[in-house]
Amino acid sequence: MEIRNYELADRQQVVALWNEVFPGSTGHNDPKASIDRKVGANDGLFFVAADGSLIVGTVLAGYDGHRGWLYSVAIAPDRRRDGIGSQLIRHAEQVLAQRGCPKLNIQVRADNAKVVAFYESLGFQIEERISMGKLIAE
Ligand SMILES: CC(C)(COP(=O)(O)OP(=O)(O)OC[C@H]1O[C@@H](n2cnc3c(N)ncnc32)[C@H](O)[C@@H]1OP(=O)(O)O)[C@@H](O)C(=O)NCCC(=O)NCCS
Repeated sequence: MEIRNYELADRQQVVALWNEVFPGSTGHNDPKASIDRKVGANDGLFFVAADGSLIVGTVLAGYDGHRGWLYSVAIAPDRRRDGIGSQLIRHAEQVLAQRGCPKLNIQVRADNAKVVAFYESLGFQIEERISMGKLIAE
């Protein structure tokens, strides 16, 4: 198992993984468009877990100079509870910390509360915030 930066050759497998793990993702969450925007950002913060030539997990990280964020945390269904998600998050954490990022945030959809235990196992705590968003482009 290797945690490494996303490579262009991974695109098809990552799209398939996201379609499986996040079904119905369209619009600004469309997998292909998301990948292309992240690759375009060229920030070196798109990580995959690779088992040989097989992509079994992903995380998109972001750092805006104030906070770090994690998105698209996805592990292949048949590879869960084997520590891969934890490895990916820790890797992203290390890279962000090396860049001076002091704090990491994650948004969890209200209907996906079951993953709270996963993030708690990695040291995240629930914070009293109201999450808001606005689409500003097609
Ligand atoms: C959440 C997810 C990324 C976890 O990945 P994973 O590789 O299975 O996680 P790990 O094996 O590293 O789990 C580490 C610990 O987290 C906790 N944990 C993980 N999944 C859990 C679950 N479904 N229920 C309760 N605890 C869980 C456990 O304490 C686990 O340790 P253990 O297996 O020794 O008990 C994976 O289940 C997934 O891809 N889910 C669907 C996509 C998703 O919801 N992503 C998050 C969006 S915010």
